[in-house]
Amino acid sequence: MIKNNNSNKVLIFGSSGDIGIEICKIYLKNNFNVCYVCRDKNSYKKIYNKLFLFSKKLQRNSFEGIISKKLNETALIKILKKADKNQPLRVIVNSIGVFGYDEIVKFNTNKFLEFIKINTMPTILLNKILMKIRYKKRYVTNILTIGSSSAYEGFEKTISYSASKHALLSSIKSINKETYKNKIFNTLINPGSVKSRMGRKIKNQLYSSFINPADVAELVYGISMIKSPGIIEDVFYKRIIK
Ligand SMILES: NC(=O)c1ccc[n+]([C@@H]2O[C@H](COP(=O)([O-])OP(=O)(O)OC[C@H]3O[C@@H](n4cnc5c(N)ncnc54)[C@H](OP(=O)(O)O)[C@@H]3O)[C@@H](O)[C@H]2O)c1
Repeated sequence: MIKNNNSNKVLIFGSSGDIGIEICKIYLKNNFNVCYVCRDKNSYKKIYNKLFLFSKKLQRNSFEGIISKKLNETALIKILKKADKNQPLRVIVNSIGVFGYDEIVKFNTNKFLEFIKINTMPTILLNKILMKIRYKKRYVTNILTIGSSSAYEGFEKTISYSASKHALLSSIKSINKETYKNKIFNTLINPGSVKSRMGRKIKNQLYSSFINPADVAELVYGISMIKSPGIIEDVFYKRIIK
């Protein structure tokens, strides 16, 4: 049976990142119950304090942290079951990512596979697990993943990064063809360079022209709230270069 999902619960991966924390804030601002996932106690505390300050301003306190060192299937099953327990998740956002340069003459297979593991696999596994958990109870759930403009064109000396984001794009397009029957809809947001910890690693681009993390968060929130029978499958969010 397919049910409308009127819950206001969101699960956010990559919450310790500059885009991730803005995503947490925008859902809090809109009265959501926010479940944030981070890797260790330090980032748990940091995020908790930032969100506490923020939600106190809004006179709200509805967030819960989950610590998970690993990104594998077993860890993700635990997280999803916990977060989906009392109230079904309406939205899941994955803002996990790793960036680095690798030129062709220094290509390293292990690095390539590591990028696939971090940048591509989690969203695939999240879909797999949610399909299993929701086998009987099919609530509408939107899964939004932060990809990258590199998914479309790639750029110099970023073989592993660009390939992992391109793989994410084709994976999501294939996954949607199976999951839409169970009302699980995936959207990939592919931004250009963003002002963040990761953005500061990008060479030969004008940092001041980068997109603000809060703007990416606004786009994520807006898309996740659209009640339309169609799917916004991927969005190319370009920065304006003057
Ligand atoms: N910044 C840009 O220019 C840009 C442009 C296009 C797309 N994006 C994409 O946007 C997303 C968010 O990036 P950001 O700009 O917010 O960068 P960021 O501030 O560096 O955040 C990256 C996030 O990924 C998490 N992460 C990295 N490796 C992980 C691992 N092995 N296991 C679990 N979590 C891991 C980090 O956790 P810790 O804090 O614990 O390390 C952090 O929460 C990424 O997918 C990125 O590719 C970024």
